[in-house]
Amino acid sequence: MTQPTLPKTATFPSGAFQYRGGALHVEDVPLARIAASVGTPAYVYSTAELAANWHAYADAFADAPVDICYALKANSNLAVIRTLAGFGAGADVVSSGELERAMAAGIPASRCVFSGVGKSWSEMAFALKAGIHQINVESFPELEMLSAVAQELGVTAPIAIRVNPDVDAETHGKIATGRKEDKFGIDWAHAREAFARAKSLPGLNPVGVAVHIGSQLIKTSPFESAYRKLAGLVVQLREDGIDIRRIDVGGGLGVPYRPNDHLADHKAYAAVVRQTLGHLDCHITLEPGRSLVATAGLLLSTVNFVKEGLHRRFLVLDAAMNDLIRPSLYEAWHTILTVKEPDAGAGQVSMDVVGPVCESGDTFAKERQMPPVAAGDLVALMTAGAYGAVMASTYNSRPLVPEVLVQGSDWSVVRHRQGMAELLAMEAMPPWLDPSAG
Ligand code: LLP
Repeated sequence: MTQPTLPKTATFPSGAFQYRGGALHVEDVPLARIAASVGTPAYVYSTAELAANWHAYADAFADAPVDICYALKANSNLAVIRTLAGFGAGADVVSSGELERAMAAGIPASRCVFSGVGKSWSEMAFALKAGIHQINVESFPELEMLSAVAQELGVTAPIAIRVNPDVDAETHGKIATGRKEDKFGIDWAHAREAFARAKSLPGLNPVGVAVHIGSQLIKTSPFESAYRKLAGLVVQLREDGIDIRRIDVGGGLGVPYRPNDHLADHKAYAAVVRQTLGHLDCHITLEPGRSLVATAGLLLSTVNFVKEGLHRRFLVLDAAMNDLIRPSLYEAWHTILTVKEPDAGAGQVSMDVVGPVCESGDTFAKERQMPPVAAGDLVALMTAGAYGAVMASTYNSRPLVPEVLVQGSDWSVVRHRQGMAELLAMEAMPPWLDPSAG
């Protein structure tokens, strides 16, 4: 596939990423300036693109307002969360750590939904004490435990039950979550029984139903199938005497990772939500993650070497799978741009773009057509704002990289580069290996 030399505004709706004077900019800031100051690798995020992504949802749902609870798992940097909170976002969290982050960034627990298949007793207690808006329960044992926690605290837990609608989201197998063999949600056939049980438990107040069928959905039809089933369930539950007032429709739209990807847009998605669920007089919650932040971020990296093999030409970057694991884990495509604008008429050469980690899986792209690149050049792995920094590890003792937020001509380091001293300080010697211990 041919590498585009200019990012398309259709792919990045705010137009935040442009070549100006031969150099790739994020808004009004040249990436080379950020690299010179904070080094590479580094994640760089655009406020304008976050805003454009937010408004795409807000505008599409303007007629029938919904709660947009940003799924923090996509990017939980405090500055990113606060930016989205400023637009009006609530939060979808999946651990007490994420709930703490949401609150630290300025989203009160009363605007947070707590999702996830395996919450612990202490996480439930933390969320209830904080005054969580809703806990999405995914199993019968979780119902029992949550009721017990709530009773111990003398409160009633407002819950939705996440059901598994057995719908194929037609996405990568590792991020499809709504098929009957997936670990998520309560089996469709047990849904009514689960609500009956919830109603009978003293610590619970079942107020909603929830689904999430998967991530990176490229069309609306799987959403439509799931939401139609859900609407039928709401009617049945009301007949059963359970007053369902809230519907949580799960994660949001996929994003165009490749320049020619054509995906369902926000208006089409909003129409599906309205058509399938609009008649039920329920409060609707959306939990988009990727579609709010993916296009807003890139991973900036330096070319360490161009290695000419007998069979392949390798572009060896200073970024690796520990910084951005999506290509290794999901065979994901990320467009790779040179920060210096390629000369007009410059040809394209085929390269394998790899990192320094000692695994062949540490490959960002295979046989990618790229303009000529030399050691020391900067490149940008685009559409890395979601599931990038949050999935990083320190594998190969590579410290976590910095994150930078741009707004117009301002930019600021919103997470510093981890030092080796910080990493080493987390560990300790047992007394029998420590000669200085008494
Ligand atoms: N709600 C729930 C309950 C979820 O499990 C997820 C994502 C979301 C909302 C947000 O979905 P989104 O709007 O981002 O599609 N690491 C993978 C994606 C994992 C998604 C997990 N759940 C990737 O890099 O593709």
